[in-house]
Amino acid sequence: MERNRLYTESVYPTAPTEEPERQYYFIDRARKHLEEQKKEAGRPLTFCVTTFGCQMNARDSEKLSGILEQIGYVQELEEEKADFVIYNTCTVRENANLRVYGRLGQLGRAKKKNPHMMIALCGCMMQEAQVVEKLKKSYGFVDLIFGTHNIYKFAELLNTRMESGGMVIDIWQDTDKIVEDLPVERKYPFKSGVNIMFGCNNFCSYCIVPYVRGRERSREPEAILGEIRRLAADGVVEVMLLGQNVNSYGKTLERPVTFAALLREVEKIDGIERIRFMTSHPKDLSDELISVMGSSKKICRHLHLPVQSGSSRILEKMNRRYTKEQYLELVGKIRKAVPDISLTTDIIVGFPGETEEDFQETLDVVRKVRYDSAFTFIYSKRSGTPAAAMEDQVEPAVVKERFNRLLKEVQEIAAQTCAVHQGTVQTVLAESVNEHDPSLITGRLSNNLLVHFPGDSSMIGRLLPVELKECRGFYYLGERV
Ligand code: SAH
Ligand code: SF4
Ligand code: F3S
Repeated sequence: MERNRLYTESVYPTAPTEEPERQYYFIDRARKHLEEQKKEAGRPLTFCVTTFGCQMNARDSEKLSGILEQIGYVQELEEEKADFVIYNTCTVRENANLRVYGRLGQLGRAKKKNPHMMIALCGCMMQEAQVVEKLKKSYGFVDLIFGTHNIYKFAELLNTRMESGGMVIDIWQDTDKIVEDLPVERKYPFKSGVNIMFGCNNFCSYCIVPYVRGRERSREPEAILGEIRRLAADGVVEVMLLGQNVNSYGKTLERPVTFAALLREVEKIDGIERIRFMTSHPKDLSDELISVMGSSKKICRHLHLPVQSGSSRILEKMNRRYTKEQYLELVGKIRKAVPDISLTTDIIVGFPGETEEDFQETLDVVRKVRYDSAFTFIYSKRSGTPAAAMEDQVEPAVVKERFNRLLKEVQEIAAQTCAVHQGTVQTVLAESVNEHDPSLITGRLSNNLLVHFPGDSSMIGRLLPVELKECRGFYYLGERV
């Protein structure tokens, strides 16, 4: 399936054929080109990776940053000032998509003023043929376009761009390859995402992810555990295990492993204090996992369990493969095993054919489960998905009105569930200096709530006991004890 004719051995006769060695060769080679460019410019050249979309994309961006730093680019956090801007795109909803085009126009103008400027686009949006066509036609100033399956080849593609001078496009339809041990530059020194699997096989009828991320494939447990051990040695105390459906982790491996078994191994790694994971599909959440969560000292008291809709009729049309009753039963089991767990969810409003009764079922689930927070989305039609072809798409005005009602309900309940922690002392991972008030440190509870408390930057990355003094709706003001 690999479509990669541009970079044959005849173009790069001395490049190793094995990965990741091949990419290290291209990192070296790009470094030499960059040295020349820096001499010409008389200054260091900078990069900025802007991430759209989910945690998976955020982790990919860290991989891109790692490669760019090895090549010799310097990170610049303000996009407008960077010489090399990379957009790591998302296409899960149409508005994610539109934002990219809007900002790309601005970049094009900046490029006219900076002769050293380069623009690369990658990520999920690039896996759509009509997007690439549009870019070729109307955004000819883009230097490099690649997709989700060949992101590990970034160094090689960048070389091709540096040596050819023209727009380079390389998109693969799918891959079964997982390349380990490439450089990565973490955004936070004390916490990190860790991919445990890629792609998705679920084909929920509204969702474009399986089309742009390809088939589900799991990393070998030893590769994951090795990475986490190295992260721990490097000062990481919290890991977030990432996959579109972590509950089906390991099923496709030659020697199958369950997600619960993987968690038990991660738990044993010294230095790791907190374990999180995203995302859990309700249909694959096992009793084994619930029991591991109940007995674990390190797995955070938080579970993101997307429900999408409370109507069994709509859930079936969504191809979610559970009913309202099954979902509620699962929530009951989890609450019994882990009583202090915080539950969050994703909800789509306005899926084709959704009636007021269906919507009431969703509100009912929200009231019964009492989520600590919920991401609510207006259904967005994604071309190529089965739902896009369904009849009776719901009137936008009706959807908007339902969306507002849902949001109100979700927020009221979230404020109530947040308030129950008032006065307790809990362990907080100090994450950053507060953006608005530098005398405060912002940290996170095991259940994912934010707390601001007086402190200084020396606390960042440490786990500290904090008394939750004052609930401010969705976060707390606290004090170290
Ligand atoms: N794999 C995760 C979700 C990844 S996408 C899961 O199954 O839970 C994140 C969220 O975006 C989804 O949970 C869903 O609520 C929302 N979403 C996906 N496609 C959408 C669409 N076409 N319109 C609106 N929301 C969508
Ligand atoms: Fe999309 Fe469903 Fe896969 Fe989640 S599980 S990424 S919603 S297809
Ligand atoms: Fe978006 Fe791709 Fe994630 S479409 S939500 S960035 S997997």
